[in-house]
Amino acid sequence: MRRVRVVGVGMGPQHVTAEAAEALRSVDWVLAFGKGEDDALLRARADVCRLYGDPPFVHIPDPPRDRADPADYPAAVRTWHSARVAVLRSAIDERPGVVGMLVWGDPSLYDSTLRLLDELDVEVDVTPGISAPQLLAARHRIVLHEIGEPVHVTTGRRLREAVSAGQGNLLVMLNRDLDLDLAGLEDWQIWWGANLGAPGERLVSGRVGEVRAEIETAREQARAVDGWMMDLFLLRRTSA
Ligand SMILES: C[S@@+](CC[C@H](N)C(=O)[O-])C[C@H]1O[C@@H](n2cnc3c(N)ncnc32)[C@H](O)[C@@H]1O
Repeated sequence: MRRVRVVGVGMGPQHVTAEAAEALRSVDWVLAFGKGEDDALLRARADVCRLYGDPPFVHIPDPPRDRADPADYPAAVRTWHSARVAVLRSAIDERPGVVGMLVWGDPSLYDSTLRLLDELDVEVDVTPGISAPQLLAARHRIVLHEIGEPVHVTTGRRLREAVSAGQGNLLVMLNRDLDLDLAGLEDWQIWWGANLGAPGERLVSGRVGEVRAEIETAREQARAVDGWMMDLFLLRRTSA
C-alpha cells in the first residue's frame, strides 16, 4: 500500500519541529495543492522543503471552488472535496514512492488533507505542527481560556450563531475579508493577530469598541507587507 506522510509545518520554516524535519527527509517527493505562482503559502511550503531534505516538490493546481457564498455551503465544499480527491488520486498514482504532504499549521485544525486521504487506499501517518491558535496565544502571552473553562473554536462565518447560543470565550478563524462582524460586541475583550510568523505580523488587543478600527488598519498593513492576510482572534465576554 502507498504511504503518505502528512506533516504539519507550523507558520513557516522556523516552526518545523525535529520530528517534522525527520519526516520530510524521509519522503521521496512532496505533493502540494496550490493556486499557482502567486500563492505565497505554496511558496512557503516549497521553502520548507528546500531546507529539509529538498525532496522533489510537485505542485497540483487546486480545483476551483464556488466562493460566492452559496446557499448550501456544505454541499459546495463537498463538491470541491470530490474534485480534490480525484486530482490527488491521479497525482499519487502517477509517481512512485513515499509521498509527503505539508500542511500549514497543524493538520487537525481547519485542514482537509486527512479527510481527502481517507477517500484513498493509502497508509497515512501524521506529524503535528504549531497551529495559528498556539502562536496567537504565545504572541499575546495568554491562556486561551479562564481556569477550568472551555474555549469554543469556530469560524468567522459562524461567530454570530455561537454568540447567540451563549458562547462567551471564542477562538475565531477563517475570517472573511471585509466583514469582521463584531457589531454589538463592543464591550467584549479581543486578542487579535494577523500573518503570525510572517514579516507582516500584526497584533492588537483590547476592548472591541476601542480597537476595532485599529484592527482594520492592521489588516491592511499585514496585506501590504506580505501580499496576503490571514487572521484569527480570541474573543471573550467580560463580566459586567
Ligand atoms: C485553512 S485554516 C488553517 C489552520 C491551520 N491548519 C492551523 O493549524 O492553524 C486557515 C486559517 O488559520 C488561521 N491562520 C493560519 N495561518 C495564520 C497566520 N500565519 N496568522 C494568523 N492566522 C493564521 C486564519 O484564521 C486562517 O483563516
